[in-house]
Amino acid sequence: MAVSGLIMIGYLLAHMYGNLKVFAGQQAFDDYAHHLRTIGEPILPYGGALWVIRIVLLVAIIAHIYSAVVLWRRDRHARGGTSRYDSPKARRGVQRSYASFTLRWGGIVIVLFVIYHLLHLTWHVVTPGGPASSPYQRVVNGFEVWWLVAVYTISLLAIGLHLRHGVWSALTTLGAHTSAAARRRLNILAYVVAIAITVGFLLVPFSILFGVVN
Ligand code: HEM
Repeated sequence: MAVSGLIMIGYLLAHMYGNLKVFAGQQAFDDYAHHLRTIGEPILPYGGALWVIRIVLLVAIIAHIYSAVVLWRRDRHARGGTSRYDSPKARRGVQRSYASFTLRWGGIVIVLFVIYHLLHLTWHVVTPGGPASSPYQRVVNGFEVWWLVAVYTISLLAIGLHLRHGVWSALTTLGAHTSAAARRRLNILAYVVAIAITVGFLLVPFSILFGVVN
């Protein structure tokens, strides 16, 4: 769960950074989309590096969902009839944060979002705002539509909450949670990563909706 999650966070940071090319204009963004397919040439064929990334990502997604199901089953057996996050240490008997409590539903929202996102910007099956041959224009056409911005905003908030708990949890699993001070640092890091990814991605749709990018 932890390793596959960290691989996907690496992808998200790179993807978010790449999307900010929108602010450099149509030529820069379209060139960037083209370069994604020519990286590694001539050793790799056209689009080869992108396929390597896709396969790594797909394996990470499958491992992550498989681990979630295994952990969920193990958790149900271990609880033996008590409710989730029951703890005598916690106020009201239940110990949880909002982010940890929404991990499972959040995960399902994220899967649905990724399917829609691929249909939209990778396969061009849905074309909110109208079709276009330029990658830049497809992004701009889409985010001029308010409800698409709303869909992306809800999905990115789910991603932000997922990352807020996930970064902390993954690094704890991998042994970074060694003291109270380390725990505080992990919490800060988790907030920084979650906010940077959520805000970084949302800058693009909102800048287009409000006409800063057109
Ligand atoms: C406002 C936010 C986002 C924008 C503007 C955006 C934009 C894009 C664009 C333009 C592509 C097509 C790239 C190409 O084929 O050249 C793409 C692909 C993709 N995006 Fe996003 N994206 C956003 C958020 C996300 C998020 C939050 C995720 C994951 C949770 C994500 C995952 C992907 C994946 C998996 C692909 C397919 C890459 C491939 O196989 O070619 N994107 N995105």
